[in-house]
Amino acid sequence: MDLKETIRTIPDYPKPGIMFRDVTTLLGQPRAFRQAIDELVQPYAGLGIDKVAGIEARGFILGGAAAHQLSAGFVPLRKKGKLPYKTITESYQLEYGVDEMEMHEDAIVKGDRVLLVDDLIATGGTAEAAIKLLRRAGAEIVAAAFVVDLPELGGADRIRALSCEVQALMA
Ligand code: PRP
Ligand code: HPA
Repeated sequence: MDLKETIRTIPDYPKPGIMFRDVTTLLGQPRAFRQAIDELVQPYAGLGIDKVAGIEARGFILGGAAAHQLSAGFVPLRKKGKLPYKTITESYQLEYGVDEMEMHEDAIVKGDRVLLVDDLIATGGTAEAAIKLLRRAGAEIVAAAFVVDLPELGGADRIRALSCEVQALMA
C-alpha cells in the first residue's frame, strides 16, 4: 500500500501557513501501521540494535512498536520535567524560543547500539538534540528513522552532517 495516501494533511495547523502532516490516520489503519513499522525496522534487523530511542510524543508510538519488533529495549526522550529519575538535558530551538529534551541518565549503557525513531523530521532540531543526548550517554547511533521527511526544511541533511545515517519512508 502507498503509505503516503494514509497520511492526512491539515492546512494552517498549528499556525497559518503550516501544512501539518497528521500521521494518526496512518496509525489507525491496521495494515498501514504494520507496513510502516516493517519498513522502518527492516534495514536494521539483525544488526544488533540494543535500544530504540523514541522522541515524545509520536515517536513513542512508532518507536515502541519498532523496539518490540527488533526485540530491543525502548528509551523515551521526553520534554522537560516529565521523567521521574535523574536526567541529562539538551536544549533545542523551536520556531519561537527554546525547549529542552531529557533522558534518564542511566537509560543508555556505554556502547549501546541505538536506533532513533520519530514520526517526522522537519528542521532537524529535535532529532539533533536527541542525537547529542544519546551520544553524551555513550550510545552508538546506528541510524535515525522517520516516517516522513520534509526535505525542503533541510533536517535530514543536518542530521547526516552529524555523521548519522537517516532513513525516511517518504518525503
Ligand atoms: C514534531 C515531530 C518531531 C518534530 C520535528 O513534534 O513529531 O518530533 O516536531 O520538528 P523539527 O525537525 O523541526 O525539530 P512536536 O514538536 O510537534 O511535538 P509533539 O510530538 O509533542 O506534538
Ligand atoms: N507534522 C507533524 N509534526 C511536525 C510537522 C508536521 O507537518 N511539521 C513540524 N513538525
